[in-house]
Amino acid sequence: MPPSTTAANSKAAHRRFLAPFRGEALAIPPMWLMRQAGRYLPEYRETRAKAGGFLKLCYTPELAAEVTLQPIRRYGFDAAILFSDILVVPDALGQKLTFAEGEGPRLEAIRSVADLGRLSPEKTGEKFGKVFETVARLRQDLPDETALIGFCGAPWTVATYMVQGEGSTDQAEARLWAYRDPDGFASLIDTLVDTSIVYLDGQVKAGADCLQIFDTWAGSLPDTEFDRWVVEPTKRIVEALKERHPTVPIIGFPRGAGASSLWYVSETGVDGIGCDTAMPPYMMGEAFEEEEVVVQGNLDPLLLVTGGDAMDERVDEILELMDGKRFIFNLGHGIVPQTPPENVARLVERVRRQGDAA
Ligand code: CP3
Repeated sequence: MPPSTTAANSKAAHRRFLAPFRGEALAIPPMWLMRQAGRYLPEYRETRAKAGGFLKLCYTPELAAEVTLQPIRRYGFDAAILFSDILVVPDALGQKLTFAEGEGPRLEAIRSVADLGRLSPEKTGEKFGKVFETVARLRQDLPDETALIGFCGAPWTVATYMVQGEGSTDQAEARLWAYRDPDGFASLIDTLVDTSIVYLDGQVKAGADCLQIFDTWAGSLPDTEFDRWVVEPTKRIVEALKERHPTVPIIGFPRGAGASSLWYVSETGVDGIGCDTAMPPYMMGEAFEEEEVVVQGNLDPLLLVTGGDAMDERVDEILELMDGKRFIFNLGHGIVPQTPPENVARLVERVRRQGDAA
């Protein structure tokens, strides 16, 4: 059984990860890293092999919980992120999805309103149930002081994979559909908004105490489309979650949005803004302050591959820039597979030592 909401809340009060959302600026910022569970860890590769495939790993609560815990055991991050994938949503909706080893996702592409008939929003329960079971298991197994982040992909980013049928550098098929037939494309986005609300609500009920919405391809749209396909759908998800769970913070990660991130923050009502590697320092340090939003980011994941002084120097710069502010240390995008695990240990030590000295 998942813990009751009241019990979960009283424990959550002790999780330092959540302090910035209550208005506190910690001398040592809380930290976690996007893709902290993954192929750079030998124990992840072992569990994945045991599961016999990436999606099987996502849908086997015992193994998904195990890989979620692996980076917590090694590094003692302030938050764990549920191990799953943003493409679990199309998969649960009934779109055929495979992950071939080393190749990335392949989906049976949806290109028109007629294709939407292949999706069954009423049938997501079975697969989502497995994810909720993982969350409940994690809340039992995690140290009390560790927060648990649930997540989904933002409708726009998930749609880009559903329409393209695979990863792409320009998200052309989704952009073309959205220009050609905005009303038809809106039906897909609406389905994703509704399904994401069900998905995130279930994760919170099972024990997640923070949520992140990943919008990896937010940066591929011009202004008007950014508003319609990124901001509006995200706002609807945030509003629905806030109605049900007003104390659970939501972090938005509109990667590549640049200056439009300010608009994104004020319109969507997110509590935290994930900053990618290219976010300019004046925005990280000052511009978001007026929005009263927690800032998260933004070390280049490739500096974590390099390690050494180059990494340390940039870490120190970020910590100095964000000193005294409501800040969560993270990368600007996910950890890459070639990252040496010892560099992650060095990073954790650096962030915590610097805080000590401050
Ligand atoms: O540790 C964590 O961050 C939690 C788990 C997590 C994964 N994917 C595991 C994963 C999270 C939060 C995601 C989010 C995700 N998935 C995003 C948004 C964030 C981002 O990175 O931009 C996107 C776009 C996806 C879709 C996706 N999943 C792609 C394009 C790929 C293939 C590319 C790659 O990195 O392999 C995946 C696979 C995937 N998701 C892996 C992991 C650990 C690797 C799969 C494997 O073990 O073979």
